[in-house]
Amino acid sequence: MNMRSAIRTAVFPVAGRGTRFLPATKASPKEMLPVVDKPLIQYAVEEALAAGARRLVFITGASKRAIEDHFDSDPELEQLLHSQGKSDLLNQIRSVLPSYAACIYIRQPAPLGLGHAVLCAQPAVGAEPFFVHLADDLIRSDVPCLQQMAAVYAEKRASVLGVELVPRRDTERYGIVEVEAPNSATSRIRSIVEKPKPADAPSRLAVVGRYVLAPAIFGHLEKIGHGSGGEIQLTDGIGALMREEAVYAHRFEGKRYDCGSKLGYLQATVEYALAHRQLGREFGKYLHEVVRTRPRTKRK
Ligand code: UTP
Repeated sequence: MNMRSAIRTAVFPVAGRGTRFLPATKASPKEMLPVVDKPLIQYAVEEALAAGARRLVFITGASKRAIEDHFDSDPELEQLLHSQGKSDLLNQIRSVLPSYAACIYIRQPAPLGLGHAVLCAQPAVGAEPFFVHLADDLIRSDVPCLQQMAAVYAEKRASVLGVELVPRRDTERYGIVEVEAPNSATSRIRSIVEKPKPADAPSRLAVVGRYVLAPAIFGHLEKIGHGSGGEIQLTDGIGALMREEAVYAHRFEGKRYDCGSKLGYLQATVEYALAHRQLGREFGKYLHEVVRTRPRTKRK
């Protein structure tokens, strides 16, 4: 069997409230925030498709209709673009979702935590390994991040968490893992702890929004109670899974932007714009000009 097709399902938990981005996220999901010309959730879907996923499961909550609409076909818009001879745009609109991919939408009744959101995906995932992708962690890399993770899964046949080194002061914002071989890109995890204080963190290796999970995770998520912050934590479910089977951490190649925070989102916007085929040069010139003239503007 082709290794890339080994994992067929990708789960996108999009039911969080995105409070850090209010009021932008009051009526519209943060996953629809655009970076240059594509919403975050489209980058997410493209990455999952590149890694071989064909069944796309969105765990949705309040105010998430825009995501369904985005992946739905829009014959009226297609007709308009066709009549205006805008074939480039027409092709872009049509390729938002290739015909070989299927979308499934499941409503999370209340935002009870990421672990609960993943548990909601169980009826659509079944008894297979699956990807979990958090769209607000945007990762720019030569090989799409989930594809890198799928390659590790193909070798280890076990769950894999995407990790990166973070400054010690930031450990309180992440799940932090302790691994057997800290100098290897891929290593078995010894322990995992949710949002430890810097002084208590077992390492600086933080779990970011990319996972390959074994279906056994569902049984653990069903059993665990409400953890840190009163939510059902995915970290607690993974901790329970690790007591029964191996779970690996993989330091992926690429740069991550935390688009759930305003600063990370702005950084992503600037860097994706600079790398954009049509906009890059002009935007680079503009940015240069802004930086060059800023001190003078400030002194006024
Ligand atoms: P975050 O911790 O970023 O929370 O969730 P949030 O609500 O989206 O954003 P803030 O902190 O209020 O600004 C991590 C991921 O888990 C999903 C979110 O959509 C996000 O992708 N999530 C979280 C759910 O799907 N359901 C939940 O109950 C909680």
